[in-house]
Amino acid sequence: MTILQGIQPSGSLHIGNYFGAIKNQIELSEKNLTLTLIADYHALTTISNPNTLRNNIVDIVKTYLSLGLSTLGFDSNNHIVRQSSFPEIQELSGILSSVCGMNILNRSHAYRSKIENGLIPSVALYNYPILMTADILIFDQKIIPIKVVVGQDQQQHLEITEQIITSFNERYGNTFRIPQIVLSNTPYVVGTDGQKMSKSYGNTIPIIAKPEEIKKIISKIITDSKPLGSSLDFDNCKIIALLKLFKNNDELSSIRSDYENGKIGYGHAKNILSDTIIKYFSQANYYFNNISVHEVNQILNIEVERSNNLGIIAEDTIKMVREIIGLA
Ligand code: ADP
Ligand code: TRP
Repeated sequence: MTILQGIQPSGSLHIGNYFGAIKNQIELSEKNLTLTLIADYHALTTISNPNTLRNNIVDIVKTYLSLGLSTLGFDSNNHIVRQSSFPEIQELSGILSSVCGMNILNRSHAYRSKIENGLIPSVALYNYPILMTADILIFDQKIIPIKVVVGQDQQQHLEITEQIITSFNERYGNTFRIPQIVLSNTPYVVGTDGQKMSKSYGNTIPIIAKPEEIKKIISKIITDSKPLGSSLDFDNCKIIALLKLFKNNDELSSIRSDYENGKIGYGHAKNILSDTIIKYFSQANYYFNNISVHEVNQILNIEVERSNNLGIIAEDTIKMVREIIGLA
């Protein structure tokens, strides 16, 4: 089984990425082969500055390493690769666009919500799920199937993937199989504004950040204006929703009773939250700042990325597809 995860280098990785996907990927990496795909083609839908894109890619590698994904060496079981190191993905995506009806893409919630949040409604943004399907299928092998680790926001994209595969198979015969999905226990993390935390929405809490930065972000979470001493709604509070990611049931029930009895207010809850986040990611922040450029360059190296048969798998898949559809 190969565990595949895709992540866009469209900004600093945040605790939504961590609890929705990265943590799961790192846990699974202990017993499985994992492939972490830096979706740099996908990021072109949001990032227009080339240096920003380059820096984001480096930061993603450093963040994964500092969170504990061990990837070094030609024979490692865990690979971090750039999507663009496999141009076969773009060719497959182009081919798949012939079997994907616009009616399928028109249903995408992610497309609509990204536009509502100010992203340019480009053709690439519209085609996003087709490219994602190509990411998965290019690496799916006959003997070693792919499991895809994602957060809840990607479920609809994977339904689209399923529809694309079905329509390809109907047209050309049974070629691709439907990938399995792995969701974490916390597949939906709210952002500081109450909608899904996302790099594209400016509502994130970064994993790698100075303590002052985390404190500032948390202090800006908007709450109602109930004064200290009033009973607060534990079940409908953004601060608590975030705190639940880190605290166990006993800790949460004690905070619940303090909240409902008016013993603590929003300010206090925000302090607990920022201290908790800072502590939780302090080791990762320390490692992040000590990772050398050399270490990163060893990973962001097309020969290493295409090693372990990954390049051969991508070439085989595209060759097979060309033959099946009549291009070879
Ligand atoms: P973003 O929306 O911040 O750009 P990505 O699209 O790069 O994030 O997502 C990378 C992974 O993180 C995906 O598996 C996605 O489902 C997961 N993820 C992103 N945001 C969240 C969230 N708020 N809660 C849970 N998982 C998330
Ligand atoms: N679309 C995913 C997201 O926005 C990122 C991604 C790109 C991905 N390619 C993938 C996820 C392949 C899983 C598999 O989060």
